Amino acid sequence: MLLELRQVSKQYGMNTKALSDIDFSVKEGEFVSIIGPSGAGKSTLLRCINRMIEASNGEIIFDGANVLGSNKKELKMIRRKIGMIFQHYNLVNRLSVIENVLHGRLGYKSTIAGVLGLYQEEEKEQAVKLLQILGLEDQIYKRADQLSGGQKQRVGIARALIQSPKMLLCDEPIASLDPNASKIIMDHLRSISTKMGITILINLHQVEVALKYSDRIIGVNQGRVVYNGSPDDLTEEQIHNIYGSEVGELILDLGGKHAG
Ligand SMILES: Nc1ncnc2c1ncn2[C@@H]1O[C@H](COP(=O)(O)OP(=O)(O)O)[C@@H](O)[C@H]1O
Ligand SMILES: [Mg+2]
Repeated sequence: MLLELRQVSKQYGMNTKALSDIDFSVKEGEFVSIIGPSGAGKSTLLRCINRMIEASNGEIIFDGANVLGSNKKELKMIRRKIGMIFQHYNLVNRLSVIENVLHGRLGYKSTIAGVLGLYQEEEKEQAVKLLQILGLEDQIYKRADQLSGGQKQRVGIARALIQSPKMLLCDEPIASLDPNASKIIMDHLRSISTKMGITILINLHQVEVALKYSDRIIGVNQGRVVYNGSPDDLTEEQIHNIYGSEVGELILDLGGKHAG
């Protein structure tokens, strides 16, 4: 197992229990989708894994390391191996595409080298190579804010890959994209998993995307895992359990897709 969560809980303030006793594990190379309605706890869950948010309770083991028990230096080592992809890309708009990608190397540098933007020739070559793989070879020196949403997300993926991660955490990476751009991003993530052997843990709102791309689906409702299994075994009743009152709308979406 690459990742194991045991009894992970997260409470915000006095009243909001965002996660309750989350238990699951992820194998090396697996493509796992986390689905569920808005407010289910998907983002909280993903962010607890690299401690962008501190879990209130439980245990997280990543690549043999105790994440929640790690000190600052140990956490830095763990975070090198975990790339993060965001819904809103989190690029630095005034910097070029390649500079944004190179930011993925900051976890390997001293603060001063990072501030001065000192990168080795190999790191620059690697950045160009990743941009080529992602179909951005013509955008390398453009400012990030001149790109389309789909292109920005591909820069985000290149920035994560240049870390040489073992796992990518993707928090609704296609939620701001049109269907064409979404398909390009999902196809890239799938091939990163299959061809590079990088583990993918991805939050998705849309069940039909999760069904198409995942090795396994974890359904979350009100901070609890209510489904953990193969996409093939996900029944309509289980979709109901995961989405609760949102389900009518989702089933209609699915019907439309299949009819078209
Ligand atoms: N920083 C925060 N402070 C207080 N409550 C929060 C915070 N972030 C999220 N929540 C609450 O925790 C629950 C889970 O939120 P979130 O993890 O964002 O769900 P999802 O990503 O599935 O939409 C929601 O009830 C949300 O309002
Ligand atoms: Mg979210």
